[in-house]
Amino acid sequence: MPTLLLHNIGVLLTMNARVGDALGVIENAAIIFDGDTIQWVGKDSALPRAHTAEQFDCLGGVVMPGLIDCHTHLVFAGDRQDEFALRARGATYQEIMLAGGGIRHTMEATRRASQSELISLALPRLARMLSRGVTSIESKTGYGLSCDAELKTLEVMYALQKQQPIDIAATFLGAHATPPEFEGKTKAYVEHIVDDMIPLVVSQGIATACDVFVEKGAFSVDQGRRILQSALDAGLKCRVHAEQLSHFGGAKLAAELFALSASHLEYADVEDMQALAKSGVVAELLPVAQEFLGMAQNASGRALADAGVKVAVATDLNPGSAMCDDLHLAARLSVTRGGLTCEEALQGVTCHAATALGRDDIGDIKAGMKADVCVLAAKSPWELLYDWSNNPVRAVFKNGRQAYLRE
Ligand code: NIG
Ligand code: FE
Repeated sequence: MPTLLLHNIGVLLTMNARVGDALGVIENAAIIFDGDTIQWVGKDSALPRAHTAEQFDCLGGVVMPGLIDCHTHLVFAGDRQDEFALRARGATYQEIMLAGGGIRHTMEATRRASQSELISLALPRLARMLSRGVTSIESKTGYGLSCDAELKTLEVMYALQKQQPIDIAATFLGAHATPPEFEGKTKAYVEHIVDDMIPLVVSQGIATACDVFVEKGAFSVDQGRRILQSALDAGLKCRVHAEQLSHFGGAKLAAELFALSASHLEYADVEDMQALAKSGVVAELLPVAQEFLGMAQNASGRALADAGVKVAVATDLNPGSAMCDDLHLAARLSVTRGGLTCEEALQGVTCHAATALGRDDIGDIKAGMKADVCVLAAKSPWELLYDWSNNPVRAVFKNGRQAYLRE
């Protein structure tokens, strides 16, 4: 039963690529929803005669799939303004981390915060994301770093999912940093993750994936392999924070384990890129983090795409390296810093981000997909990337319902 008609779409970006048309454009288009699913997509002029009572006029604007932010650290308390100021005076992210600041600092604030405090802090971030057309995100733990605090963070994500429209795919990132209880005993912490945390996380049933920060001063490749293999054995998917601050082996590990994604990749080399392409691992480009940390090193979206890797683009929202929930900015920077074409940047926040989440029912517009779309007050697909001072999103539909409307 048709429930809603979106009509008067000037330019529909279906994201179903055809030869010579990466965005799968249909001009003068319409979409019909049946409940939470897309029932029909086509030219306005070809609309089936008997459709629906409820209609939404897209005013001749651009319509595209709901945006997907496939890499965030949404749930945290406190801030790291002092570190931002220290970096402005020349300190590096890694120096601050090795001196016991960084992730640990946020861990302390997050452990102290109650579930309702964490929910209140995350809700405005989600509201801003929705107003920019985001309908699904991934969200990592990693500021709890104990069984209780990691499970608490996952419960917060579950509660957030119930309180607002954006879908939240939860990822367990117990291997984000070694907590103070295990100071100097990272090996023992890895065993704690494998023996205690992963079984608890799996039995809680909220997280669907496991991530590891593979980096000097964080977790080695072997430790990453041990954790991710046990997560895979327990039924979780896996992801890797790889080659962010040095060339360290995370990308090849992601390829070896057929991870959903490898993120950052500033220091990835050609061999890494070939390995990712061969294993079908999505590269997550996080240019806001590069910019926020003032990194000279640029992850090359261009080289990754040219190597045949699917490139997604995400915010990496977190208090340390990317205090920013603006996926439009990430997409813009993926063009200017990452070397993506405008088409690739839009794929990066829609269809390729869906692949990074392991979802085949979101990220493009065709019959049978989830009815997640955003309507722009824009005539051209490039407006979202070109006009850095404007948010062109006018309306957002999530699961077939209007979730946001800018008057
Ligand atoms: O993706 N690199 C590791 N994790 C985050 C930063 C976390 C933090 O500094 O709080 C990232 O950049
Ligand atoms: Fe991250």
